[in-house]
Amino acid sequence: MNDKKDIWLNDLKRKREKGPTLQPESHAEFKDSTKSVHAGQYNDPNTNALGTPIYQCSTFYLNESSYKAIEEGRGRDEMIYSRYGNPSQWSVQEKLSSLENAESSIVFASGMAAISSTLLAILDKGSHVVSSRDIYGGTYNFLYEDLYRYGMSVTFTSPTDMGAIEAAIQDDTKVLYFEALTNPLLKITPLEDLVALGKKYNLRVIIDNTFLTPYNVKALDLGVDLVVNSATKYLNGHSDLIGGTVSGSRKLIDRIWPQMLKNGGSMDPHACFLLERSLKTFALRMRTHNENALQLANYLESHGKIKRVYYPGLASHGQHGLAKSQMKGRYSGMISFEIEGGNENAHCLLSHLKLPKEATSLGGVESLISLPYNTSQASLTKEQQKAIGINEGLIRLSVGIEDIEDLIADFEQAINNVFKKQTVC
Ligand SMILES: Cc1ncc(COP(=O)(O)O)c(C=O)c1O
Repeated sequence: MNDKKDIWLNDLKRKREKGPTLQPESHAEFKDSTKSVHAGQYNDPNTNALGTPIYQCSTFYLNESSYKAIEEGRGRDEMIYSRYGNPSQWSVQEKLSSLENAESSIVFASGMAAISSTLLAILDKGSHVVSSRDIYGGTYNFLYEDLYRYGMSVTFTSPTDMGAIEAAIQDDTKVLYFEALTNPLLKITPLEDLVALGKKYNLRVIIDNTFLTPYNVKALDLGVDLVVNSATKYLNGHSDLIGGTVSGSRKLIDRIWPQMLKNGGSMDPHACFLLERSLKTFALRMRTHNENALQLANYLESHGKIKRVYYPGLASHGQHGLAKSQMKGRYSGMISFEIEGGNENAHCLLSHLKLPKEATSLGGVESLISLPYNTSQASLTKEQQKAIGINEGLIRLSVGIEDIEDLIADFEQAINNVFKKQTVC
């Protein structure tokens, strides 16, 4: 453990710059749309081409500086090999850091690569994690099935009950791992309370912010230590790539970087290009997702055939007060709702909708719709589904950026069709 690499990565006295960076220009003073467009963009100095080129290379010429960096374990700050770092990665990482108000970020080949590498980097043998029953199935499986194989353990609790979370903390607890907004019932984790618990017990707080993104909530500004995202969803927003991110202090991200090298989940340069290009419209897209979802949630709630709507922006949401203070009017593009007549009518509704596409995933420019009972929560028995609130007729909708009048008209005709006599679905 006394090699130079370990010293460089863990040396607390080492002066840490933000980054790594290709263009040290700060965009901190700007708002999200300006950051989305300009931060991280690396105009090619050789050709003056505007926009970050795709550096589709696996390796780089070695020189004195890179040999020295390899010897001293400083590979993160040099171009050596694309699994370690690549200008296309650095560029999109800078844009993300700017949007997250983070010192440093890493992009990964998937959200799960980001989540598993982050947790493995932060935890040690014997560590315990407190997490939530309402988390993404892939993360749940990693925590439940894999941690114990490394001598670690997990307790699943409620994302909203601070008393239960505190009671689950043990002497060996190292991490509180939660999602800012949960799937599919859109429960809100009180981030400031969680951060206060983390401080009280000296724990790291790691938040998956996929459903909200840094546009809706800047988790790091609220004191969270690390924020992870599935970039597959809103960050990319076009349903055409798989990716993940982690952002936080340079010190913590430097600790995750060697774990990424070992797990091998770095993002390909072409995917980086797609992600950086998509992020240029990130704030614009998020604004429309939020506005459309609020209007559609209001429409659905007022419809006589819709039994219940789950949406943080509605006064009927059990945590609407927290939503107002934590999300500041940016309530996300996700809605869940229950239709009268159970799962049969839910399927019938999907078959009559013309615009929302029946597909899993979320955060695309196109509306995506699915039923939790046969997708995200399919591995649970009917009783287990009921116990966690997955009722008959529950539908999950990722509201896209289509014109809201078209979306509402489509739901109107589809719901009418479901309840028309003699409708065959
Ligand atoms: C909240 C959340 N986190 C993480 C993931 C995993 O992301 P990926 O599919 O990019 O690995 C997902 C995927 O659906 C998700 O919904």
